[in-house]
Amino acid sequence: MCGIVGVTGAVGAAGVVYKRLKLLEYRGYDSAGIASMLDGRFYICKRRGRVYSIGGDIKRLHGDTAIGHTRWATHGAPSDANAHPHIAGRFALVHNGIIENYAALKEKYFSGVEFASQTDSEVVVRLLDLFYEGDALAAVAKTVSLLVGSYALVIMCADFDGLIVTKKANPAIIGYGDGASYCASDAPALAGLCSEITVLGDGDIAALTAGRVEFYDGNLHVICREKIANPAVSTELDLHGCPHYMLKEIREVPSSIIRTCDAYTCASDGLSDYLNGVERIIIVGCGTAYNSGLVGKRYFEAFAGIPTEVETAGEFRYKQPIINGRTAVIAISQSGETADTVEAAKLVKGLGGKVIAVTNSPYSELTRIADAVVPVEAGQEICVAATKSYTGQITALYMLSLTLAGMDTQTGAKKLYETAELAKGIIERTDIGAFADTCARSDGVYFLGRDLDYAVATEGSLKLKEISYVPSEGYPAGELKHGTLALIDIRTASVVIITDPALAPKSENAVEQILSRRGKVLVVTNVKDTLQRTEGKADVLEIPVCDKYLSPLLSAVVVQLLAYKTALLLGRDPDKPRNLAKSVTVE
Ligand code: M6R
Repeated sequence: MCGIVGVTGAVGAAGVVYKRLKLLEYRGYDSAGIASMLDGRFYICKRRGRVYSIGGDIKRLHGDTAIGHTRWATHGAPSDANAHPHIAGRFALVHNGIIENYAALKEKYFSGVEFASQTDSEVVVRLLDLFYEGDALAAVAKTVSLLVGSYALVIMCADFDGLIVTKKANPAIIGYGDGASYCASDAPALAGLCSEITVLGDGDIAALTAGRVEFYDGNLHVICREKIANPAVSTELDLHGCPHYMLKEIREVPSSIIRTCDAYTCASDGLSDYLNGVERIIIVGCGTAYNSGLVGKRYFEAFAGIPTEVETAGEFRYKQPIINGRTAVIAISQSGETADTVEAAKLVKGLGGKVIAVTNSPYSELTRIADAVVPVEAGQEICVAATKSYTGQITALYMLSLTLAGMDTQTGAKKLYETAELAKGIIERTDIGAFADTCARSDGVYFLGRDLDYAVATEGSLKLKEISYVPSEGYPAGELKHGTLALIDIRTASVVIITDPALAPKSENAVEQILSRRGKVLVVTNVKDTLQRTEGKADVLEIPVCDKYLSPLLSAVVVQLLAYKTALLLGRDPDKPRNLAKSVTVE
């Protein structure tokens, strides 16, 4: 959803911004740009493509103040002209977000004026210049008071020796270090550079000069904002010898399970108060987070006996949900920034409900809104495709469900540790690649399962389509004969997950139905009888026997690796799939 970064008071500011911008590329990679400032003059380079495409221009960007942007296009196609920064008169800016009333503002203030881009952002920089009467902060305050939508803005004014940062509904942090002041979309972008940061609140305006930062509210009254230790560490950004972040992060699945489990044990104390008297649970999330919610639903119902619904956050928002004091809404989000999920949480609060956030981002918008937070300790996830955060979310939901059920969390933690150990073994296996070749050659890949295996099937399908661009669908095995079977032929592949002995014969029926239509099948199973019955007929991948409820933590690793290997065979970049970005901060 666009990454923004800025620095003032640093020699070679453009070079600093360039390096940090690369760490934000997961937020979007349609275009990149940097502008610097020296003695009131702007220097700029911007281009369609990834951050490296502007690397050669850095040397001509003079000055010790610079701003940078990596874009996920919303308004206006990916192009040089639509790349940020945008400049108008004495102002230059980068923007993350969407200005919903940009057309109305353009019409009102710039009728007949030809804009240089098709972006919504350009109207903001033009307004700044229009309202400027010698006080840059006043121009910023007036401009943002007119904006409807979401924004994190980093602004340079030719007459102000520093940067101005402001935000609403999109993230921005300020960093402190070595006589220079920094800002960025998130903490990892400043890892290793700033040991202390401030997380800006909505409506805050920060004025950054070399080594000094002042905070104001929308009326330009001075306010205080606390410094916190930067939670991001630079070593997390290393690839540790892996060719892609996706593989590195799949390898971190076991530690994600263990760390999330440990964090839960430390953080669970206050949770009982929020859970007391809960009679109904609604889980909301998007994409992978929604899929982990499908697993969580089973836990809440099986262990605690609490009726649980799972909704995509974008749908939930517009459904006039029925919430009361005995409804707990669990909002799941890796980033804690996803607009639909954050807005769903706000809606619940407005209706008097309780929100429990399950998130990998302790300082995110979602944690600010939530009544309670269940931490996911997956560590920074850079690949756009979620992997270790998915297993971290399942871990957190499992522990939470045990608390709700009044069950022994220590026994649960022990089972999780054992399962994490088993996951390590799967990650090292080399035979998962064999079926990837079949997937890469297929017109469509279908993921099937029953109960918890169905939940993982939905995630397997999302992972595969997201990074390989092979059409895919995940559905309950029992549904095959109600329509999808019509799609099965020799050019399709199906992945059937079977981990519950009680349901195995039913899912094996689906295997037979696919084979008899000449479809290719991979059976992922830890059920001995299924192994015997399907071996020789279909491709079979045996996974270790584990606690029935924790099998998603193992089958997830298989489908993640399958997607990764398929993407590589097709020459895709698994870390940066086309058209996508990691944090979706717009509707
Ligand atoms: O940060 P969030 O967990 O809220 O993100 C939600 C989805 O955008 C995300 O899970 C997306 O589906 C993943 N890229 C899938 O791999």
